[in-house]
Amino acid sequence: MPQTICMLASEATPFAKTGGLADVAGALTRQLHAAGHDVRLVLPLYSQIDRRAHGIEPVTGFTDLPLEFGPHRYRWSLHGTTLPRSNTPAWFIDIPVLFARSTLYSSAADEHLRFIALTRAALELCQRWGWAPQILHCNDWHTAFAPLLLRTAYAWDRLFDPVRTVLTIHNIGYQGEFSAAQVPDLGIGPPDTARLHQDDLRAGKVNALKHGILYADAITTVSPTYAREIMTPHYGMGLEGVLQQRAAQLRGILNGVDYDDWDPRHDHFLPRHYDADSLPIKATLRTELMSRLGLERRDGTTLFGIVSRFTPQKGLDLLFDTLPALLGERDLALVALGNGDARYEVFFEGLQARFPHRVVYHRGYSDELAHWIEAAADVFLMPSLYEPCGLNQMYSLRYGTIPIVRRTGGLADSVRMFDPATGTGTGIVFNDFDAAAISWAMRTALDWHAQPALWSQLVRNAMAEDFSWTHQVREYEALYRQLAGDSDGSTAASN
Ligand code: ADP
Ligand code: GLC
Repeated sequence: MPQTICMLASEATPFAKTGGLADVAGALTRQLHAAGHDVRLVLPLYSQIDRRAHGIEPVTGFTDLPLEFGPHRYRWSLHGTTLPRSNTPAWFIDIPVLFARSTLYSSAADEHLRFIALTRAALELCQRWGWAPQILHCNDWHTAFAPLLLRTAYAWDRLFDPVRTVLTIHNIGYQGEFSAAQVPDLGIGPPDTARLHQDDLRAGKVNALKHGILYADAITTVSPTYAREIMTPHYGMGLEGVLQQRAAQLRGILNGVDYDDWDPRHDHFLPRHYDADSLPIKATLRTELMSRLGLERRDGTTLFGIVSRFTPQKGLDLLFDTLPALLGERDLALVALGNGDARYEVFFEGLQARFPHRVVYHRGYSDELAHWIEAAADVFLMPSLYEPCGLNQMYSLRYGTIPIVRRTGGLADSVRMFDPATGTGTGIVFNDFDAAAISWAMRTALDWHAQPALWSQLVRNAMAEDFSWTHQVREYEALYRQLAGDSDGSTAASN
């Protein structure tokens, strides 16, 4: 049965992206549409979005609309287009004073307000359409106030009565916390403010993600292992208590991969394509990338790749001592792409200076280089401290680029440790977050890479994995069906 779904996100591929959330919001929406659902994606119209390239046009009759809450008075307009290679509608909320900034996200004092405004405008858009989606699907802290707003500021509107809400947690490391003095920015007053987390208020703060967890009808996160992990103090980042309280509503659904974008058989960033039966082409791409980047090439060199946001989450601290030691001893080269926290940038810059022609660091963001690294590297390094799902390790598998991952979150759910004795498994998985463990993992990769028959078995296993959305989307459909059929829609919210 086709369902009606409003997908609310702060970023989506190909319009605006800082990380995996964008890939998932874009691909999941497209897959739901392909499965026959009426799904509408709603995003902010950031100034970084190339309107012309994406065919984004203003929508007649939806310009200069009021958006008024608390002390705030905005005017907004609706713009629209469709996702590429499909006619899935994507809608953009244009409020230049909030979304025309130098970066998508910031630590400005009104960061929470920008996304409260997005959430409210999306709800008012549904009102103007006279459209009550069966499912309002929010993502991360940015849109996590939607379930609470439906029970408070918009509770008067019977249109929303049948709406059920889903909150997907892509990363619990970002919670959208702001000062209790800014509660008026939510635009709810007494008695509704009693629904806010009272202990937090007394402590002088409001946590956006926490309210999503408390009030959404269902909570998902992006892998089954992460769903279990975030209920523990070690991974819950302070939200383990509310998650335990709502454990019956929490489930993990592993992200899918958009193989239209990420497959070496047709990747449009690559000049030549390959599959498991044409691996010599992968080798030529490796040669080409290494010479383009000025990396020294010898026959047995193992090329390691990194594509990452540079945050403590990604576990790059583990490389500080181990990589220089390994580069001193073994025949490997490294290409790293990413930016973020200065200490990681400084580390990779230093490594490049110390090992010229063996290490290349590209500071910044490049879709093209990210695809090239996936295709050309032998090994992909992803030693995350925590990883809700992770997409790059799944991309790597498809490109026959062997992932080295730590056994956590979605990494644990998507990479299986290779066993040379049986020839089964798809990558190298280590447990402990320490230098000895990652050093063992990297040395193991080098040892196995030196054995062509073994390596080729491992590469073939990796390339045979299938994480396509066509499987994963069924889990969301089942959840939506369950919620839509659950007519009372009650939650356990209380605090
Ligand atoms: P996260 O969302 O935590 O950053 P994921 O592995 O889920 O981690 O997704 C990261 C996505 O962002 C991937 O599509 C990856 O290729 C991309 N990415 C990350 N950093 C860069 C970069 N510097 N340049 C290009 N793409 C990047
Ligand atoms: C987050 C997580 C990442 C996940 C992505 C998409 O940014 O850090 O692990 O793959 O969201 O869900």
